[in-house]
Amino acid sequence: MKIIIIANRLPVKVVRKEDQFSFERSEGGLATGLGSLEMEAEKYWVGWPGIFTDDDLEKKEITDKLHAMHFHPVFLSAEQIENYYEGYSNSTIWPLCHYFSSYIEYRADYWETYRQVNALFCSEALPFIGNDDIIWVHDYQLMLLPKMIRDKQPDANIGYFHHIPFPSYELFRVLPEREEVLEGLLGADLIGFHTHDYMRHFIGAIYRVLNLSCSLDEISLENRIVHVDAFPMGINYDLYHDAPALPAAKENADMLREKLGDKTIILAVDRLDYSKGILHRLSGFAQFLQNHPEYHEKVSLVMIVVPSRDAVDIYADLKNKIDRAIGEINGKYARLGWNPVYYFYRSFAFEELIAMYDIADIALVTPLRDGMNLVAKEYLAAKGDKAGVLILSEMAGAVIELQDAIIINPNDMNEIEHAILQALQMPEGEKRERMQKMQKHISTRNVKKWANDFVTELQSIKAQNREIIQKIVGKKQLTQIKSAYDEANARLLLLDYDGTLVPFSRNPEDAIPSAELLALLREMAADKKNKVVINSGRNHQILDKWFAGLDLDFAAEHGIFYKENNKWHQNLPSKLEWDEEIINIIQRTIEKTPRSHLEQKDTALVWHYRSVDVWLAELRAQQLVNTLIGPCARLNLQIVHGNKIVEIKPPDYNKGSEVLRRLEQQDYDFVLAIGDDTTDEDMFRVLPPEGISIKVGSFSPTAKYRIPLQSSVISFLSNLIKQ
Ligand code: UDP
Ligand code: G6P
Repeated sequence: MKIIIIANRLPVKVVRKEDQFSFERSEGGLATGLGSLEMEAEKYWVGWPGIFTDDDLEKKEITDKLHAMHFHPVFLSAEQIENYYEGYSNSTIWPLCHYFSSYIEYRADYWETYRQVNALFCSEALPFIGNDDIIWVHDYQLMLLPKMIRDKQPDANIGYFHHIPFPSYELFRVLPEREEVLEGLLGADLIGFHTHDYMRHFIGAIYRVLNLSCSLDEISLENRIVHVDAFPMGINYDLYHDAPALPAAKENADMLREKLGDKTIILAVDRLDYSKGILHRLSGFAQFLQNHPEYHEKVSLVMIVVPSRDAVDIYADLKNKIDRAIGEINGKYARLGWNPVYYFYRSFAFEELIAMYDIADIALVTPLRDGMNLVAKEYLAAKGDKAGVLILSEMAGAVIELQDAIIINPNDMNEIEHAILQALQMPEGEKRERMQKMQKHISTRNVKKWANDFVTELQSIKAQNREIIQKIVGKKQLTQIKSAYDEANARLLLLDYDGTLVPFSRNPEDAIPSAELLALLREMAADKKNKVVINSGRNHQILDKWFAGLDLDFAAEHGIFYKENNKWHQNLPSKLEWDEEIINIIQRTIEKTPRSHLEQKDTALVWHYRSVDVWLAELRAQQLVNTLIGPCARLNLQIVHGNKIVEIKPPDYNKGSEVLRRLEQQDYDFVLAIGDDTTDEDMFRVLPPEGISIKVGSFSPTAKYRIPLQSSVISFLSNLIKQ
């Protein structure tokens, strides 16, 4: 088994230096975090090498060198970089996911190239993929790739991790290509985010945009389940913890200390990005200097800004604004021998960066939005036993784990000012205590654990999906069921109605049986070896009306009524009188839930919500169930939360009790039950061991078989009875 990592960037970038190619480490949390990951399984990486060339010989040379490191380059043209990377990835998706809606650019050519480049990544990766391999796609530049790989290799083991925030549905819905993007991601078996909030937003988008059924962390597709989970990414803790002792890092740190003297150092490290709140930080620091002259000449802010995406106008513009803001602060406050802000606009070598972490007294991390922010974790690890303070924005994913930082809202200048003051005045003991708590956390939740957790969950989902696929009624399964059917002399065929024999319709009264269904049932019932029973939650009046003239048996209202030998029987003495309190509770729910309604049967009350917005429906259903628990327990009534319904009924009868009654009455050598709802599981559970239970729609561990689509049920039954 190999792990194939596919990301826009390789962890190294190829740089041309005097006719030679050399390799430098790529910046950004994805490349640095994953690049330092050591795994037991063999690891391959597919990604852009960060260099342009049209020369085939050069491409070959680069490819050979990268292959020796287990990296495979995907070469992109200047135009592809402009439209796919600077365009759709960084001018459409990035601002969208970071809540900068006014920066979003909508351009058809960006989208077209994004699709084309995702397809290119797919064709470059496919030759590397073996049967048992794990394919792990990373980040927003490749959101269409999971589906593209799935289309070519349906059994592939695919995970996707989203390294940036996922916005709430209210923002995500503005994306013109929202359906295709989500469908692209659903090609994966497991989709990971840094935090539960991003995960929740993603699931919200799935059911609102694609109208798919989701239960908490699972999305049910026709023949597999996609899991969604939160995996906060860690760092290679030991690497950063041990690095300050490296001779090169020590040398750098000594040199820095000598140059900076006894000034207290506040450090900030970011890629050039508007999401990082660099200008907000500068304003907060300026306000601190303005209000606290006692710290002049004592405190300096060291800002490392790593060049990034500077071909995108907004980034170039931001660079100018940062230059100007720093110029203004230094112009106003600097004195001979003291610079309020030291500004480096370049990438730092690993040892240089470590030295900065080592000497910094305070790290000031102020993103306006950040998927995780690894710099905060790296700073903590590199501090080792030394005291240091982390000031961290509440908008960074990392804040969920780093609660012992001084937490700020980066839009509030007063908070930045006070946080700096608090950090400067914090007693040594408190600094160490906070530091140690956070170090303890991030030393165990490191990048290796993050990757292992993801891969382990991916493998278990794959195993579950294999089981799901095996249960689907295909040719092989149909042959098995049919041969048992053909050999049998006394067959009991138990058929649920709504969602099984007919599709759900918005209005339950409209779900009348089609002529095709009536013909099929007539043919099934004509076989003397068959006892055909429609086992439904519907009331008996409507079943009689819809199936008049057919020689069928029925069970209605979840087993309370049954019809055999053309006569209806009732398990309960008479129509039930409903308690006013219960009716009122349901009425109140209806008032607050547009498009829901109450159905009153003789022996059950049903609140229907199939036309209600999914989120509101789930909320109200849960509230209704919670409110009904007390009165229903008192009145000995059962609450059933079924498919788009909440039903209240007497507890002694259900679809299963009807099956048991029939099995006691007569011996059958073939028993089949088919249904789509949780209430049908009562039938499945009481079938004899050789009985055939078939779940329509989503996966159920109780049923032996599964037919994913209701529209396939009629053809399945027709094939079953075919001579
Ligand atoms: N980094 C780097 N070179 C530098 C400065 C920073 O490679 O000169 C690395 C830093 O060590 C960190 C990454 O860039 O691992 C930034 O990751 P983070 O999650 O903080 O932000 P992102 O860039 O992913 O938005
Ligand atoms: C963030 C993104 C990564 C990206 C990195 C650097 O961490 O999540 O996908 O690689 O920034 O950005 P760049 O555009 O230079 O690759």
